[in-house]
Amino acid sequence: MNATTYTARAHTNIALIKYWGKKDEELILPMNNSLSLTLDRFYTETSVTFDEQLKDDLFLLDGSRENGNKVSKFLDIVRKKAEINIKAKVISQNHVPSTAGLASSASAYAALALAASKAAGLSLDKKELSRLARRGSGSACRSIYGGLVEWQKGTDDQTSFAYPLEMPNNFEITMVALVVNADYKKISSRAGMKRVVETSPYYPAWVQTAAKDLKNIKQAIVERDFETFGEIAEENAMKMHALNMSAHPHFNYLEPNSIKAMQIVEKLRLEGVSCYYTLDAGPNVKVICLKRDVKVIAGTLSDSFGQEKVLVAGPGPAAHLI
Ligand code: PMV
Repeated sequence: MNATTYTARAHTNIALIKYWGKKDEELILPMNNSLSLTLDRFYTETSVTFDEQLKDDLFLLDGSRENGNKVSKFLDIVRKKAEINIKAKVISQNHVPSTAGLASSASAYAALALAASKAAGLSLDKKELSRLARRGSGSACRSIYGGLVEWQKGTDDQTSFAYPLEMPNNFEITMVALVVNADYKKISSRAGMKRVVETSPYYPAWVQTAAKDLKNIKQAIVERDFETFGEIAEENAMKMHALNMSAHPHFNYLEPNSIKAMQIVEKLRLEGVSCYYTLDAGPNVKVICLKRDVKVIAGTLSDSFGQEKVLVAGPGPAAHLI
C-alpha cells in the first residue's frame, strides 16, 4: 500500500438540542436525537498517513506528541473496515484561538474520520462517515455536515447518524461565544452523561422533553421563527444543566461569570434584543442571535468581560479534504 497522506478539515458545532446520555457506551448510541449548528470560525485540520515503516501509531496535536490511545482505538475501527494492519501518523492542528476553551472533540473526530478513511483506501459516503465519526465522539457525527444538522439516535450502529437540515433563507443565525474559563473541563462529557443517565431522577423526563424540543425547534426553523427557536434552545440547555445538578453525586459546569453572562443576555432580551444562551459541558456561554444583533451583543459582553473573551461565529461548512 502506498503511504499517501490525506488532510481533512472539519468544523466544530454547537448543539441547540443537546446530546446528553448514551444507551450504548461502546458504539456511542445516544438516548435522544440532537440538533446543532456547524460553525465557520473554529475547526481542526488533520493529516493521516498509513505507513508500513511505523512500529506504532504516532499522534501530534498542535505540534506536540500526545498520548494517542483514543486515536489508536479509533484508527483500529478504520483499519478493520479497510482490512489493513498498518500503523499511522496523525498530525492534528486545532484552529481555535488558543485561550478559547472551545476546542472540541467534534471537529477532531470528524476530521480524523475523513482523513483516516481516505488514507486507508476507503471511499465512504457522508452517512458512513458520520457513523464512523460518531465512534470517536458522538457530537463529531454532526460535524461531517455544514449548517443545521440533526443526529438521528437510531437503534444500532447502522441507523445512528447525522444528516443536514435545510437552512431557510434570511435566517442568519450567529453565535457570540463568551470564554469564561479556557481550562479543561473538570468532568468529561463522557463521565457527566454516564452519571446523569444512571442517577438523575429526572433523566426520563429529559428524554421525553428532548424529543418534543426537537420537533418544535424544527417547526420554528421552517417558520423562520427565531424567538421560538432561541427559547427552545435555551430551555433545552438549562434542562441539561439541571440534570447535572440532580445527579448523584451532583455536579455543575457553571461558574459565577457564566451566570453573570446569562443575566446580561436576559437583560438584553428585556431591552428588545433577540438573544438566547446555551452552554455545553463547560462554563463558556454561547449566545445565539441573528447577524443583525451581533454588534450590540458582542459589545455588551466585551464591556463586562473584555473584548478578547468574545468570539463570533456564523454557520460553517461540511468536513472536506484539503
Ligand atoms: O460528543 P461529546 O462526547 O463531546 O459530547 C458532547 C456533549 C455536548 O456538547 C454537551 C452536547 C452536544 O450535543 O454536543
